[in-house]
Amino acid sequence: MKYQREILKQVSGYVPGEQPKPGERIIKLNTNENPYPPSPRVMEAIAAVGADGLRRYPDPNAVELRKTAAELYGFAGPEWVIAGNGSDELLAMIIRTFVDPGETVWSAYPTYSLYDTLVKLHGAKYASVDLDREFRMTPEFFTRQGRVFFLARPNAPSGVSSPKAEVEKLCKSFPGVVVIDEAYADFDEDDCMDFPRRFENAIVTRTFSKSYSLCGLRAGLAFARPEIIAELMKTKDSYNMSAVSQAGATAALRDQAHMRANRDKVIATRARLTRALREMGFTVPDSKGNYVLARWGGRPDTKGIFTGLRERKIVVRYFDARNLTDALRISIGTDAETDTLLAAIREIVK
Ligand SMILES: Cc1ncc(COP(=O)(O)O)c(C=O)c1O
Repeated sequence: MKYQREILKQVSGYVPGEQPKPGERIIKLNTNENPYPPSPRVMEAIAAVGADGLRRYPDPNAVELRKTAAELYGFAGPEWVIAGNGSDELLAMIIRTFVDPGETVWSAYPTYSLYDTLVKLHGAKYASVDLDREFRMTPEFFTRQGRVFFLARPNAPSGVSSPKAEVEKLCKSFPGVVVIDEAYADFDEDDCMDFPRRFENAIVTRTFSKSYSLCGLRAGLAFARPEIIAELMKTKDSYNMSAVSQAGATAALRDQAHMRANRDKVIATRARLTRALREMGFTVPDSKGNYVLARWGGRPDTKGIFTGLRERKIVVRYFDARNLTDALRISIGTDAETDTLLAAIREIVK
């Protein structure tokens, strides 16, 4: 498969043969995982699935999870929500449902690179509009025509969150479905959860991977008008969410206090890391995600910093991509990991 290797690399940050060995101690700051453990209530709910829960097929419609999500976000009922095996599955499902091979799907540049891969795997055309140097949307965004527009808010890798008024303008100007990918929205100051009620073409996606510390569970949600959700339900695999995922994700939503406490710690570390990197001479846009993009226009080259960190068993993300070769994307770790990272960068760039 032409794209197989590329997908593996994008999803894990590693290529085959490069996975950390069991027991190898690395500071892993390359895939925006949460450094804190998930809620103990999630662990209890997963254990409670039990032998019978595993012996049987799970609820194909994940009704309990969708009901819990609808209630939490103020939607009228589960018909406004669909659950997926991670939000990546929901993104693929959206393409499968609303795009025919050969049709055009838009996004911003730079953004989450999986959009491009998923669109091409589907045999559709991927096109992007450049963000400006500060990673803001430009008037060009509001002139595009196509089937789907993917907009990550906050965006990756910049961490910049487009003003809601601009997202609203996009929903009004774009003739197809606008997917507002809110994978990192819990780390932001506001969100677009009101958009599905206000715009018939808006889909908001969420993940349990980041703020809920559940990358390994594989669970995500999409919110949209019931007509859109009904179309998505037609294309999903029958049992796309395991019993374990459904139980864990439902328990995670029911423990908002745990998520918020971890989220607040991540935000505090993000502020400290941003300040320290700026003091060292990096340009760092204000991030609303659980990562920062640190630009380094100079001594030594940015890839050198990436390699130097890797030699010290600290893994961050380097993009060999247009306008990003002077940047590192660094996930927010614990305070201790952040101290080790900063000391290592100081040593490399001195
Ligand atoms: C913008 C964005 N959307 C979606 C995802 C995927 O999340 P999930 O783990 O739910 O598939 C990521 C993961 O890094 C992301 O950065």
